[in-house]
Amino acid sequence: MSGTGTNLQALLDACGDPAYGAAIIAVGADRPEIEGLARAERAAVPTFVLRVPDFPDREAWDRALAERVGEYQPDLVVLAGFMKLVGPAFLSRFGERTVNTHPALSPSFPGMHGPRDALAYGVKVTGCTLFIVDKGVDTGPIVAQRAVPVLDGDDEAALHERIKVAERDMLVDTVGRMIRAGWSVTDRKVTLG
Ligand code: GRF
Repeated sequence: MSGTGTNLQALLDACGDPAYGAAIIAVGADRPEIEGLARAERAAVPTFVLRVPDFPDREAWDRALAERVGEYQPDLVVLAGFMKLVGPAFLSRFGERTVNTHPALSPSFPGMHGPRDALAYGVKVTGCTLFIVDKGVDTGPIVAQRAVPVLDGDDEAALHERIKVAERDMLVDTVGRMIRAGWSVTDRKVTLG
């Protein structure tokens, strides 16, 4: 996690209900003192921070991230608003059980500016995508998507906020189903249960 952590908060809230079936065992971030870490701390979830500049290079950071996450033995790793690409060491260990959310309807508008790029293109419908992380940028097998309308007069912030409402709902619903029922991937097609 890299920022404000509203996706994380939605998961923390969902995990408060035992019927949800999932528990958050740790929250990691690539920078200290962000609201997302405070959210985890308020929920009494262990946190850790691994900053890229504290390592000799990106590969060393990636190896450290894989080791640290591995200590918690997660069934699923959720990159919720995590704005760094994980590398080969992380992917070789967790690639098939790491998901990320993207604020656009993949394969449209990958990258850091999904809402801005959708607005600039003039699409009437955009949305969000939950995908299994691979080595590309927002290219992995799609687990879930939600459509969101683009309204006249939208600016980037208004559109992104509307997407984030759908994104949180998608994340909570889908992560719960993945944990409760499992998932499989065949030729990019993800099946839950
Ligand atoms: C989300 O829209 C996520 O998809 C994007 O940045 C936003 C993070 O929001 N990468 P938050 O930190 O979970 O509030």
